[in-house]
Amino acid sequence: MPLITKDINLAQQTLKQGKPVAIPTETVYGLAAMINNEQAINAVFTMKNRPLDHPLIIHVAKDWDLNHLVTKVPNYGQILMEHFWPGPLTLIFQLKEGAVNPLINGGQSTVAIRCPKHKMTQELLKHIDTPIVAPSANPFGKISPTTAEHVAKSFKNENLLILDGGRCPIGIESTIVDVSNPDSYQILRHGLIDSKEIARVIKADASNAESSIRTPGRLKQHYQPHKPLFYFLDYLSLERYCQETKQEVYVIAGKKPATVIERLFHQLSESPQQAAFDLYYQLREADESSAPVIAIELPKNSSEWEGIRERVLKAGSKGETS
Ligand code: TXA
Ligand code: MG
Repeated sequence: MPLITKDINLAQQTLKQGKPVAIPTETVYGLAAMINNEQAINAVFTMKNRPLDHPLIIHVAKDWDLNHLVTKVPNYGQILMEHFWPGPLTLIFQLKEGAVNPLINGGQSTVAIRCPKHKMTQELLKHIDTPIVAPSANPFGKISPTTAEHVAKSFKNENLLILDGGRCPIGIESTIVDVSNPDSYQILRHGLIDSKEIARVIKADASNAESSIRTPGRLKQHYQPHKPLFYFLDYLSLERYCQETKQEVYVIAGKKPATVIERLFHQLSESPQQAAFDLYYQLREADESSAPVIAIELPKNSSEWEGIRERVLKAGSKGETS
């Protein structure tokens, strides 16, 4: 059975004994192991049922010297770090040869690093004085957890220590930017720090960086609830689907369709921050509800919504009406 605690010392001891610990971050909960403990890193892959070719993000304390791990940080990468760290931004750097266990980065020449903002995890990182790897604390392909209870539910048969830092204030995973190329960057995963903001911050000081955004992630499906999730490009088609279908539907949309009861409805916020905070939480509520399917209104295609749209597009499939 998992044990939920607020005791940072206990979390520190457990990590030092070579066991994984679930930790809070400002984005989602992570399943952490110290980067110098191969047994613990292996345990993280096993617990998540994660394929070994999906590299992990290293989480570092504020002001930790990156020179231990990386070579050649381009100017624009330095600017991003100064602007957004600690915070929900992961950067991909050129790895210093031999600096990490190849289990962490899949033996590639690059490594992903982030400096989380959550106070408890920063304190933990400061005390253990070693970076940690932390993939999201969910079984592979499923919804990331945003509360300690959600982690416990996903790993109910494991002897897992969960450091409880409350509900994650951001609610979706960090934005990932590849800064391993000196001349240009690529956004590999969208998040609440959006492409416009990144371009604005870099352009302010680094005129040589140009954006070439590539479709994020290699997996078509990810972040999935247990029940089928259908997304609709506009409210009216969602409303029509709810009228036509014979079954109960859990609805996440700007308005409540008249055919749907209050208990099976969550109002999608007009603010991307609030919508991100609610998204995974609501998908879990939907999974626990009596409705066998979930319908969501896809937010508009603009930079501040790109993180949420990316999650919905990967978690669901396009809803059809007749
Ligand atoms: O917000 C977050 O980033 C959360 C919290 C816990 O920090 N962590 C997280 O980790 O989302 P995970 O393992 O669920 O996602 C890590 C992503 C994967 O899609 C992986 O492919 C990518 O980072 N990644 C890691 N190392 C990489 C590398 N060297 N090159 C390209 N992508 C990399
Ligand atoms: Mg994940």
